[in-house]
Amino acid sequence: MKSRLACLFLAVTAAAFASKDKPVIGLSLDTLKEERWQHDRDTFIAAAEKLGATVIVQSANSDDTRQVRDVESLISRGVDVLVIVPHNGDAMTRAVKSANEAKIPVIAYDRLILNANIDYYLTFDNVKVGEAQASYAAARLPKNRPAKIVRIYGAPTDNNAKMFKQGQDNILDPLIKAGKITVLHEDWALDWKPENGKKIMNAAITKSGRGIDMVVVSNDGTAGGAIQALLEEGLAGKVLVTGQDADLAACQRILRGTQAMTVYKPLKNLATLAAQVAVDVAKGNRPTTPSTLDNGTKQVPSIFEKVISVDKENLAATVIADGFHKAEALR
Ligand code: BGC
Repeated sequence: MKSRLACLFLAVTAAAFASKDKPVIGLSLDTLKEERWQHDRDTFIAAAEKLGATVIVQSANSDDTRQVRDVESLISRGVDVLVIVPHNGDAMTRAVKSANEAKIPVIAYDRLILNANIDYYLTFDNVKVGEAQASYAAARLPKNRPAKIVRIYGAPTDNNAKMFKQGQDNILDPLIKAGKITVLHEDWALDWKPENGKKIMNAAITKSGRGIDMVVVSNDGTAGGAIQALLEEGLAGKVLVTGQDADLAACQRILRGTQAMTVYKPLKNLATLAAQVAVDVAKGNRPTTPSTLDNGTKQVPSIFEKVISVDKENLAATVIADGFHKAEALR
């Protein structure tokens, strides 16, 4: 990663403004409920502090009004740059307007903010996440009959949830058209809540019975909910379930056999990169990026980090070798 970063930052133009040695970064998070966001926060703060910055963190508990207020309070505290994980990619447009008026640059982290004048978007390749989940299932279809599957998408307010579905569609649509897959039930899990994952799974079982082969679930939290419903029916371990985030509980389920796979996103890379970009931008620089993405207002300079498909076979060589979880924690 070092060499890629070096390339990125070589392209930095000379500071247009007087550079600030100790910038203050406002980090506005949707939530800290899912384990991954705690990793993101901790790594981001550590990396930013190493670069001489201070980070003020706010978490909105999945509440749009509260997140807009959080961002406005960070603006009034005079932060030099904002890093935002929006709960709702549309609702944050208003908060970005306030930041624009105050001339504070905005970086969307992990999730895109739509129809807004943001400066950067740093994320993982979210379409690839969906493709990894669906490809894992597609490689394991029953031989002599169509696979019966359930699809559990993420929060409809999260642009990423749509990207994950798009990636899944890329793989599943041709198989559905060819009659190799039958979708028994599908739904969106509001706010990515595990209990909503469970409700959708319960509804699928009530509607279609126990003959389910696979559940393509978009993240580990909601997969946990779905697996709870399967456990109560004595079906856990018999149905292939996908996920994302390499949450500790999900990795434990993979080793126990109740969840088949997860998608590991090396958060350390993204959070470290975001801290570097934030500090650089706060100093008045404009780091160049390898990609752009249209958010409805502009082509936003973007970076898409790579993701890794993980199951029982490669868990040790990926998640553990990377230090994301300790081997002892998984025993
Ligand atoms: C993130 C996922 C996460 C989900 C729920 C998505 O935007 O990309 O990693 O599981 O939100 O927090």
